[in-house]
Amino acid sequence: MDALIPILNKLQDVFNTVGSESIQLPQIVVVGSQSAGKSSVLENIVGRDFLPRGAGIVTRRPLTLQLVYTPPEDKEVQCQNLGLHPPDENEFAIFSHVKGKIFTDFNEIRHEIEAETDRLGGKKNIYHEPITLKIYSPKVVTLTLIDLPGLTKIPVEDQPVDIEKQVRDLIMHYISNPNAIILAITPANVDFSTSEAVKFAKEVDPDGRRTLAVLTKLDLMDRGTDAYDVLCGRIIPVKLGIIGVVNRSQEDIHKKKPIEEALRYETAFLQKNYPSIATRNGTSFLAKTLNRLLMHHIRDCLPALKTRINQMVSHFQTLVNSFGEPIEDKGRLLLQIITKFASSYCATIEGTAKNIEVSELC
Ligand code: GDP
Ligand code: NA
Ligand code: MG
Repeated sequence: MDALIPILNKLQDVFNTVGSESIQLPQIVVVGSQSAGKSSVLENIVGRDFLPRGAGIVTRRPLTLQLVYTPPEDKEVQCQNLGLHPPDENEFAIFSHVKGKIFTDFNEIRHEIEAETDRLGGKKNIYHEPITLKIYSPKVVTLTLIDLPGLTKIPVEDQPVDIEKQVRDLIMHYISNPNAIILAITPANVDFSTSEAVKFAKEVDPDGRRTLAVLTKLDLMDRGTDAYDVLCGRIIPVKLGIIGVVNRSQEDIHKKKPIEEALRYETAFLQKNYPSIATRNGTSFLAKTLNRLLMHHIRDCLPALKTRINQMVSHFQTLVNSFGEPIEDKGRLLLQIITKFASSYCATIEGTAKNIEVSELC
Protein backbone atom coordinates (compact mmCIF):
# COMPACT_ATOMS: atom_id res chain seq x y z
CA MET A 1 0.00 0.00 0.00
CA ASP A 2 3.08 2.22 0.30
CA ALA A 3 2.71 3.80 -3.13
CA LEU A 4 -0.83 4.89 -2.45
CA ILE A 5 -0.26 6.70 0.83
CA PRO A 6 1.12 10.01 -0.49
CA ILE A 7 -1.41 10.22 -3.32
CA LEU A 8 -4.37 9.53 -1.10
CA ASN A 9 -3.17 12.12 1.37
CA LYS A 10 -2.95 14.77 -1.32
CA LEU A 11 -6.39 13.83 -2.52
CA GLN A 12 -7.71 14.01 1.03
CA ASP A 13 -6.19 17.51 1.22
CA VAL A 14 -8.08 18.59 -1.86
CA PHE A 15 -11.32 17.19 -0.51
CA ASN A 16 -10.82 18.92 2.82
CA THR A 17 -9.96 22.20 1.09
CA VAL A 18 -13.05 22.20 -1.07
CA GLY A 19 -15.11 21.11 1.91
CA SER A 20 -16.46 18.09 0.16
CA GLU A 21 -17.06 14.76 1.86
CA SER A 22 -13.99 12.60 1.98
CA ILE A 23 -13.52 10.20 -0.89
CA GLN A 24 -15.27 6.89 -0.45
CA LEU A 25 -12.82 4.12 -1.20
CA PRO A 26 -14.16 0.67 -1.99
CA GLN A 27 -14.39 -1.86 0.78
CA ILE A 28 -12.42 -5.04 0.24
CA VAL A 29 -14.49 -8.12 1.08
CA VAL A 30 -13.36 -11.76 1.15
CA VAL A 31 -15.60 -14.62 0.11
CA GLY A 32 -14.83 -18.33 0.03
CA SER A 33 -15.39 -21.67 1.63
CA GLN A 34 -14.48 -22.36 5.21
CA SER A 35 -10.70 -22.57 5.75
CA ALA A 36 -10.00 -21.40 2.18
CA GLY A 37 -7.53 -18.92 3.66
CA LYS A 38 -9.65 -15.76 3.75
CA SER A 39 -8.38 -14.43 7.06
CA SER A 40 -4.81 -15.33 6.07
CA VAL A 41 -5.05 -13.33 2.82
CA LEU A 42 -6.46 -10.25 4.59
CA GLU A 43 -3.77 -10.41 7.21
CA ASN A 44 -1.08 -10.55 4.54
CA ILE A 45 -2.57 -7.50 2.83
CA VAL A 46 -2.40 -5.54 6.10
CA GLY A 47 1.05 -6.97 6.85
CA ARG A 48 0.29 -7.61 10.51
CA ASP A 49 -0.42 -10.72 12.50
CA PHE A 50 -3.71 -10.20 14.29
CA LEU A 51 -6.58 -12.22 12.86
CA PRO A 52 -7.71 -15.52 14.34
CA ARG A 53 -6.97 -18.25 11.79
CA GLY A 54 -7.25 -22.02 11.81
CA ALA A 55 -9.05 -25.13 10.70
CA GLY A 56 -12.82 -25.07 11.19
CA ILE A 57 -15.12 -22.08 11.54
CA VAL A 58 -12.85 -19.60 13.23
CA THR A 59 -14.46 -16.48 11.75
CA ARG A 60 -18.06 -16.54 12.92
CA ARG A 61 -18.90 -12.86 12.88
CA PRO A 62 -18.08 -10.29 10.22
CA LEU A 63 -15.03 -8.24 11.12
CA THR A 64 -15.08 -4.68 9.81
CA LEU A 65 -11.48 -3.63 9.77
CA GLN A 66 -11.04 0.10 9.26
CA LEU A 67 -7.51 1.17 8.50
CA VAL A 68 -6.87 4.82 9.26
CA TYR A 69 -3.74 6.46 7.91
CA THR A 70 -2.21 8.34 10.85
CA PRO A 71 1.29 9.83 10.60
CA PRO A 72 3.07 10.08 13.98
CA GLU A 73 2.47 13.85 14.15
CA ASP A 74 -1.30 13.30 13.93
CA LYS A 75 -1.38 10.68 16.67
CA GLU A 76 -2.04 13.14 19.49
CA VAL A 77 -4.97 14.83 17.74
CA GLN A 78 -6.44 11.51 16.67
CA CYS A 79 -6.34 10.27 20.28
CA GLN A 80 -7.77 13.54 21.58
CA ASN A 81 -10.72 13.08 19.23
CA LEU A 82 -11.21 9.62 20.72
CA GLY A 83 -10.90 11.07 24.20
CA LEU A 84 -7.97 8.77 24.90
CA HIS A 85 -4.41 9.18 26.09
CA PRO A 86 -1.97 8.72 23.16
CA PRO A 87 0.19 5.56 23.35
CA ASP A 88 3.97 5.52 22.78
CA GLU A 89 3.51 3.28 19.74
CA ASN A 90 2.66 4.74 16.34
CA GLU A 91 0.41 1.80 15.44
CA PHE A 92 -2.61 1.34 17.66
CA ALA A 93 -6.17 0.08 17.51
CA ILE A 94 -9.57 0.44 19.09
CA PHE A 95 -12.66 -1.77 19.10
CA SER A 96 -16.07 -0.16 19.02
CA HIS A 97 -17.24 -2.56 21.75
CA VAL A 98 -14.33 -1.81 24.14
CA LYS A 99 -14.78 1.72 25.41
CA GLY A 100 -11.83 3.79 26.54
CA LYS A 101 -9.08 1.37 25.58
CA ILE A 102 -6.24 1.65 23.09
CA PHE A 103 -4.66 -1.62 21.93
CA THR A 104 -1.03 -1.65 20.82
CA ASP A 105 -0.29 -5.38 21.15
CA PHE A 106 -1.52 -7.24 18.08
CA ASN A 107 -1.70 -10.55 19.97
CA GLU A 108 -4.07 -8.89 22.41
CA ILE A 109 -6.12 -7.66 19.45
CA ARG A 110 -6.44 -11.25 18.22
CA HIS A 111 -7.51 -12.44 21.68
CA GLU A 112 -10.10 -9.68 21.87
CA ILE A 113 -11.55 -10.69 18.47
CA GLU A 114 -11.75 -14.30 19.70
CA ALA A 115 -13.34 -13.32 23.01
CA GLU A 116 -15.85 -11.03 21.31
CA THR A 117 -16.69 -13.74 18.76
CA ASP A 118 -17.52 -16.12 21.61
CA ARG A 119 -19.37 -13.50 23.63
CA LEU A 120 -22.67 -14.00 21.79
CA GLY A 121 -22.60 -17.63 22.90
CA GLY A 122 -22.30 -20.90 20.98
CA LYS A 123 -19.03 -21.99 19.47
CA LYS A 124 -20.57 -22.95 16.14
CA ASN A 125 -23.16 -20.31 15.35
CA ILE A 126 -22.79 -17.49 12.86
CA TYR A 127 -23.69 -13.95 13.87
CA HIS A 128 -24.55 -11.03 11.61
CA GLU A 129 -23.51 -8.36 14.09
CA PRO A 130 -20.04 -7.23 13.02
CA ILE A 131 -17.03 -6.66 15.22
CA THR A 132 -15.55 -3.27 14.37
CA LEU A 133 -11.81 -2.75 14.69
CA LYS A 134 -10.01 0.46 13.74
CA ILE A 135 -6.27 0.35 13.18
CA TYR A 136 -4.42 3.69 13.19
CA SER A 137 -1.03 3.48 11.53
CA PRO A 138 1.45 5.45 9.43
CA LYS A 139 1.81 2.35 7.23
CA VAL A 140 -1.74 1.93 5.95
CA VAL A 141 -4.10 3.51 3.47
CA THR A 142 -7.43 4.66 4.87
CA LEU A 143 -9.51 1.74 3.74
CA THR A 144 -12.03 -0.81 5.00
CA LEU A 145 -11.49 -4.57 4.78
CA ILE A 146 -14.16 -7.08 5.73
CA ASP A 147 -13.45 -10.59 6.96
CA LEU A 148 -16.41 -12.94 6.72
CA PRO A 149 -17.35 -16.43 7.84
CA GLY A 150 -16.85 -19.07 5.15
CA LEU A 151 -19.39 -20.90 3.06
CA THR A 152 -20.42 -24.20 4.61
CA LYS A 153 -22.50 -26.98 3.12
CA ILE A 154 -23.29 -29.42 5.88
CA PRO A 155 -24.07 -28.37 9.45
CA VAL A 156 -21.70 -29.94 11.99
CA GLU A 157 -22.46 -30.92 15.59
CA ASP A 158 -24.80 -28.36 17.14
CA GLN A 159 -24.91 -25.97 14.19
CA PRO A 160 -28.35 -24.75 13.18
CA VAL A 161 -29.80 -26.68 10.20
CA ASP A 162 -30.08 -23.50 8.13
CA ILE A 163 -26.42 -22.54 8.65
CA GLU A 164 -25.73 -22.56 4.91
CA LYS A 165 -28.50 -20.05 4.26
CA GLN A 166 -27.42 -17.89 7.20
CA VAL A 167 -23.88 -17.62 5.85
CA ARG A 168 -25.10 -17.05 2.28
CA ASP A 169 -27.31 -14.15 3.40
CA LEU A 170 -24.50 -12.63 5.39
CA ILE A 171 -22.02 -12.84 2.51
CA MET A 172 -24.56 -11.56 -0.01
CA HIS A 173 -25.22 -8.55 2.20
CA TYR A 174 -21.57 -7.49 1.99
CA ILE A 175 -20.69 -8.41 -1.58
CA SER A 176 -23.82 -6.88 -3.14
CA ASN A 177 -22.50 -3.46 -2.14
CA PRO A 178 -21.52 -1.99 -5.53
CA ASN A 179 -18.62 -0.27 -3.79
CA ALA A 180 -17.09 -3.57 -2.66
CA ILE A 181 -14.09 -5.20 -4.29
CA ILE A 182 -14.63 -8.94 -3.95
CA LEU A 183 -11.68 -11.21 -3.26
CA ALA A 184 -13.02 -14.60 -4.29
CA ILE A 185 -10.80 -17.08 -2.48
CA THR A 186 -10.39 -20.70 -3.55
CA PRO A 187 -7.80 -23.19 -2.27
CA ALA A 188 -5.64 -24.75 -4.99
CA ASN A 189 -6.28 -28.24 -3.63
CA VAL A 190 -9.95 -28.22 -4.63
CA ASP A 191 -11.45 -28.23 -8.13
CA PHE A 192 -11.46 -24.60 -9.33
CA SER A 193 -14.24 -25.24 -11.86
CA THR A 194 -16.61 -25.78 -8.92
CA SER A 195 -15.37 -22.78 -6.90
CA GLU A 196 -18.18 -21.53 -4.69
CA ALA A 197 -16.40 -18.23 -4.23
CA VAL A 198 -16.28 -17.46 -7.94
CA LYS A 199 -19.92 -18.56 -8.39
CA PHE A 200 -21.00 -16.29 -5.55
CA ALA A 201 -19.12 -13.33 -6.91
CA LYS A 202 -20.64 -13.87 -10.39
CA GLU A 203 -24.12 -13.61 -8.88
CA VAL A 204 -23.57 -10.04 -7.73
CA ASP A 205 -20.90 -8.99 -10.24
CA PRO A 206 -21.79 -10.78 -13.50
CA ASP A 207 -19.46 -8.58 -15.59
CA GLY A 208 -16.56 -9.26 -13.26
CA ARG A 209 -15.73 -5.59 -12.82
CA ARG A 210 -14.98 -5.82 -9.12
CA THR A 211 -14.00 -9.43 -8.57
CA LEU A 212 -10.43 -10.61 -8.16
CA ALA A 213 -9.84 -14.36 -7.73
CA VAL A 214 -7.21 -15.58 -5.28
CA LEU A 215 -5.90 -19.15 -5.36
CA THR A 216 -4.49 -20.08 -1.95
CA LYS A 217 -2.57 -23.17 -0.77
CA LEU A 218 -0.47 -23.58 -3.91
CA ASP A 219 1.93 -25.45 -1.62
CA LEU A 220 -0.68 -28.07 -0.74
CA MET A 221 -1.45 -29.40 -4.22
CA ASP A 222 -1.06 -33.10 -4.95
CA ARG A 223 2.38 -34.14 -6.09
CA GLY A 224 2.65 -34.01 -9.88
CA THR A 225 -0.14 -31.47 -10.31
CA ASP A 226 0.15 -27.73 -10.75
CA ALA A 227 -2.12 -24.69 -11.01
CA TYR A 228 -0.87 -23.27 -14.34
CA ASP A 229 -4.19 -23.81 -16.11
CA VAL A 230 -6.19 -22.21 -13.31
CA LEU A 231 -3.81 -19.26 -12.87
CA CYS A 232 -3.76 -18.55 -16.61
CA GLY A 233 -7.55 -18.43 -16.72
CA ARG A 234 -7.92 -21.57 -18.82
CA ILE A 235 -10.36 -23.22 -16.40
CA ILE A 236 -12.54 -20.21 -15.57
CA PRO A 237 -11.37 -16.79 -16.74
CA VAL A 238 -11.66 -13.93 -14.26
CA LYS A 239 -11.43 -10.53 -15.89
CA LEU A 240 -9.40 -8.75 -13.21
CA GLY A 241 -7.14 -11.74 -12.70
CA ILE A 242 -6.49 -14.94 -10.76
CA ILE A 243 -3.62 -14.56 -8.33
CA GLY A 244 -1.95 -17.55 -6.68
CA VAL A 245 -0.58 -17.17 -3.13
CA VAL A 246 1.09 -19.22 -0.42
CA ASN A 247 0.01 -18.23 3.08
CA ARG A 248 1.33 -19.55 6.35
CA SER A 249 0.33 -23.11 7.24
CA GLN A 250 -1.17 -24.03 10.58
CA GLU A 251 2.26 -25.24 11.64
CA ASP A 252 3.79 -21.87 10.68
CA ILE A 253 1.15 -20.18 12.84
CA HIS A 254 1.94 -22.46 15.80
CA LYS A 255 5.61 -21.72 15.39
CA LYS A 256 4.88 -18.00 15.05
CA LYS A 257 6.61 -17.70 11.70
CA PRO A 258 6.96 -13.96 10.99
CA ILE A 259 5.10 -12.48 7.99
CA GLU A 260 8.36 -11.34 6.33
CA GLU A 261 9.76 -14.86 6.44
CA ALA A 262 6.53 -16.28 5.04
CA LEU A 263 6.63 -13.75 2.19
CA ARG A 264 10.22 -14.71 1.35
CA TYR A 265 9.21 -18.36 1.29
CA GLU A 266 6.27 -17.54 -0.99
CA THR A 267 8.53 -15.72 -3.46
CA ALA A 268 11.00 -18.62 -3.53
CA PHE A 269 8.17 -21.11 -3.93
CA LEU A 270 6.72 -19.24 -6.92
CA GLN A 271 10.11 -18.83 -8.58
CA LYS A 272 10.83 -22.54 -8.23
CA ASN A 273 7.42 -23.93 -9.19
CA TYR A 274 5.91 -21.24 -11.44
CA PRO A 275 8.93 -19.48 -12.96
CA SER A 276 7.17 -18.11 -16.06
CA ILE A 277 4.32 -16.48 -14.09
CA ALA A 278 6.02 -15.90 -10.71
CA THR A 279 5.95 -12.10 -10.97
CA ARG A 280 2.21 -12.10 -11.68
CA ASN A 281 1.39 -14.05 -8.55
CA GLY A 282 2.04 -13.86 -4.83
CA THR A 283 0.98 -11.60 -2.00
CA SER A 284 2.92 -8.54 -3.15
CA PHE A 285 1.42 -8.75 -6.63
CA LEU A 286 -2.01 -9.08 -5.04
CA ALA A 287 -1.38 -5.91 -3.04
CA LYS A 288 -0.20 -4.08 -6.18
CA THR A 289 -3.29 -5.21 -8.07
CA LEU A 290 -5.52 -3.96 -5.28
CA ASN A 291 -3.70 -0.62 -5.36
CA ARG A 292 -4.35 -0.42 -9.08
CA LEU A 293 -8.06 -1.09 -8.57
CA LEU A 294 -8.18 1.62 -5.91
CA MET A 295 -6.43 4.04 -8.27
CA HIS A 296 -8.94 3.37 -11.00
CA HIS A 297 -11.66 4.05 -8.49
CA ILE A 298 -10.05 7.35 -7.51
CA ARG A 299 -9.71 8.29 -11.17
CA ASP A 300 -13.42 7.62 -11.59
CA CYS A 301 -14.12 10.01 -8.70
CA LEU A 302 -12.14 12.87 -10.26
CA PRO A 303 -14.80 14.35 -12.56
CA ALA A 304 -17.08 14.90 -9.55
CA LEU A 305 -14.21 16.50 -7.67
CA LYS A 306 -13.48 18.85 -10.57
CA THR A 307 -17.13 19.84 -10.85
CA ARG A 308 -17.15 20.64 -7.16
CA ILE A 309 -14.02 22.78 -7.48
CA ASN A 310 -15.43 24.65 -10.48
CA GLN A 311 -18.62 25.34 -8.56
CA MET A 312 -16.58 26.73 -5.71
CA VAL A 313 -14.53 28.90 -7.99
CA SER A 314 -17.64 30.47 -9.53
CA HIS A 315 -19.19 30.82 -6.08
CA PHE A 316 -16.13 32.75 -4.90
CA GLN A 317 -16.15 34.81 -8.08
CA THR A 318 -19.74 35.89 -7.39
CA LEU A 319 -18.90 36.59 -3.78
CA VAL A 320 -15.86 38.64 -4.74
CA ASN A 321 -17.87 40.63 -7.30
CA SER A 322 -20.50 41.45 -4.71
CA PHE A 323 -17.85 42.89 -2.39
CA GLY A 324 -17.00 45.55 -4.94
CA GLU A 325 -13.67 47.23 -5.58
CA PRO A 326 -11.81 47.39 -2.28
CA ILE A 327 -11.04 43.69 -1.80
CA GLU A 328 -11.12 42.59 -5.39
CA ASP A 329 -7.39 41.97 -5.44
CA LYS A 330 -7.58 39.77 -2.39
CA GLY A 331 -10.48 37.88 -3.86
CA ARG A 332 -8.67 37.36 -7.11
CA LEU A 333 -5.62 36.16 -5.24
CA LEU A 334 -7.68 33.66 -3.27
CA LEU A 335 -9.27 32.45 -6.45
CA GLN A 336 -5.89 32.02 -8.07
CA ILE A 337 -4.58 30.07 -5.12
CA ILE A 338 -7.54 27.69 -5.05
CA THR A 339 -7.51 27.16 -8.80
CA LYS A 340 -3.80 26.52 -8.91
CA PHE A 341 -3.93 24.23 -5.93
CA ALA A 342 -6.82 22.22 -7.29
CA SER A 343 -5.49 21.88 -10.82
CA SER A 344 -2.01 20.86 -9.75
CA TYR A 345 -3.34 18.19 -7.42
CA CYS A 346 -5.78 16.90 -9.99
CA ALA A 347 -2.91 16.67 -12.47
CA THR A 348 -0.77 14.74 -9.98
CA ILE A 349 -3.50 12.28 -9.24
CA GLU A 350 -4.53 11.81 -12.84
CA GLY A 351 -0.92 11.38 -13.88
CA THR A 352 -0.42 8.67 -11.32
CA ALA A 353 -3.61 6.90 -12.25
CA LYS A 354 -2.65 6.93 -15.94
CA ASN A 355 0.78 5.54 -15.26
CA ILE A 356 -0.61 2.39 -13.77
CA GLU A 357 -0.41 -0.25 -16.38
CA VAL A 358 -3.03 -2.89 -16.73
CA SER A 359 -1.33 -6.20 -16.08
CA GLU A 360 -1.00 -8.50 -19.04
CA LEU A 361 -2.84 -11.74 -18.91
CA CYS A 362 -1.02 -15.02 -19.30
P1 GDP B 1 -10.52 -18.95 6.52
O1 GDP B 1 -11.35 -19.91 7.28
O2 GDP B 1 -10.90 -18.92 5.06
O3 GDP B 1 -10.43 -17.58 7.11
O4 GDP B 1 -9.05 -19.57 6.50
P2 GDP B 1 -7.81 -19.26 7.45
O5 GDP B 1 -7.07 -18.09 6.95
O6 GDP B 1 -8.27 -19.30 8.86
O7 GDP B 1 -6.91 -20.53 7.12
C1 GDP B 1 -7.37 -21.84 7.40
C2 GDP B 1 -6.17 -22.74 7.63
O8 GDP B 1 -5.48 -22.93 6.39
C3 GDP B 1 -5.14 -22.17 8.58
O9 GDP B 1 -4.64 -23.22 9.35
C4 GDP B 1 -4.06 -21.61 7.68
O10 GDP B 1 -2.78 -21.68 8.28
C5 GDP B 1 -4.12 -22.56 6.51
N1 GDP B 1 -3.72 -21.90 5.25
C6 GDP B 1 -4.28 -20.80 4.67
N2 GDP B 1 -3.66 -20.51 3.51
C7 GDP B 1 -2.68 -21.43 3.35
C8 GDP B 1 -1.69 -21.66 2.34
O11 GDP B 1 -1.57 -20.93 1.33
N3 GDP B 1 -0.84 -22.71 2.54
C9 GDP B 1 -0.92 -23.54 3.64
N4 GDP B 1 -0.03 -24.54 3.74
N5 GDP B 1 -1.85 -23.36 4.60
C10 GDP B 1 -2.71 -22.32 4.46
NA1 NA C 1 -10.96 -21.29 9.12
MG1 MG D 1 -11.46 -16.73 8.69
